[in-house]
Amino acid sequence: MGTLADLRSIPVDPLEPIPYRVVELVQETVDVITVVAAPVGQALPPAQPGQFMLVWAFGVGEIPISVSRMAADGRVMLTVRAVGQVSGAIVGLQVGEVVGLRGPFGTVWPVAEVLGADVVVVAGGLGLAPLRMAIDALVQPDPRRITVVVGSREPAQRLYPGDLTGWAEQGASVHETVDTADREWHGGVGTATTMVERLHHPHQAAFVCGPELMMMSAVRALAQQGVPTDRTWVSLERNMHCGIGHCGRCQLGALLLCRDGAVVRWDHVEELMEVRGR
Ligand SMILES: Cc1cc2nc3c(=O)[nH]c(=O)nc-3n(C[C@H](O)[C@H](O)[C@H](O)COP(=O)(O)OP(=O)(O)OC[C@H]3O[C@@H](n4cnc5c(N)ncnc54)[C@H](O)[C@@H]3O)c2cc1C
Ligand code: FES
Repeated sequence: MGTLADLRSIPVDPLEPIPYRVVELVQETVDVITVVAAPVGQALPPAQPGQFMLVWAFGVGEIPISVSRMAADGRVMLTVRAVGQVSGAIVGLQVGEVVGLRGPFGTVWPVAEVLGADVVVVAGGLGLAPLRMAIDALVQPDPRRITVVVGSREPAQRLYPGDLTGWAEQGASVHETVDTADREWHGGVGTATTMVERLHHPHQAAFVCGPELMMMSAVRALAQQGVPTDRTWVSLERNMHCGIGHCGRCQLGALLLCRDGAVVRWDHVEELMEVRGR
């Protein structure tokens, strides 16, 4: 009989969901939960920063969700907002229940390519989830060269406040802003783009993730500050089905975003996005 290690090394069919058991649920905000799931038997390969899984809620359906973190023992963390049927079912999971995971799929934030540069990471709302592992990887070797700008709708919608404090304590420059403040709020007020416009320190590379219009305005502000478009990456979301470049559901121009994205270099999509944004 094979050992667990043997089982874990068997190649995985990318179309077949692998069972993972929910081992922990972290309530991040009123409608956002991080599901921590551990392999029941065979584990999927580790996800790199920016990659996503297709998450199957049994009996309901399957949706793409970014991997917000991976533990060394193969546990996967998925931060999900309930917006519809499948995401609602995932957010409603209980500890002990099983989901099916496929992946990891997609391109990665090019951390190695930008190390040594002054990098700004801009996140809007849930956009911080796909950036979380990239920020970990950037901050760890060279925190003083990393600026993190995070925009949330309101203080109660802030994601991962412990991480933000941790990155700042390690030496990264962390700027938070909210659209609508309350009396206790001491951070910035306004959009993430407004905060980007206020940055004085020049940056040579940028990672940006959030709602599409937010990304477009942030990228324009970054370009005005001299961040080259070929050193700026964004993460684009489209509905997905197969996850492996077969069905065409996630097409954007010549790109299939499950395979050529979700992380793309801005100069490769700028024209397409600017036309769509008009
Ligand atoms: C690569 C990738 C990574 C993602 N990562 C995350 C993540 O980490 N956490 C998270 O909560 N969500 C993430 N999403 C979005 C998530 O997949 C959608 O919210 C989900 O597909 C909605 O399905 P549903 O059945 O719950 O809702 P539906 O009933 O399908 O739709 C409900 C609403 O959500 C909108 N919607 C549906 N699919 C998408 C989509 N792909 N992108 C944007 N809006 C959509 C619909 O237009 C509708 O307004 C990601 C999407 C992609 C493509
Ligand atoms: S989801 Fe099928 S081609 Fe991208």
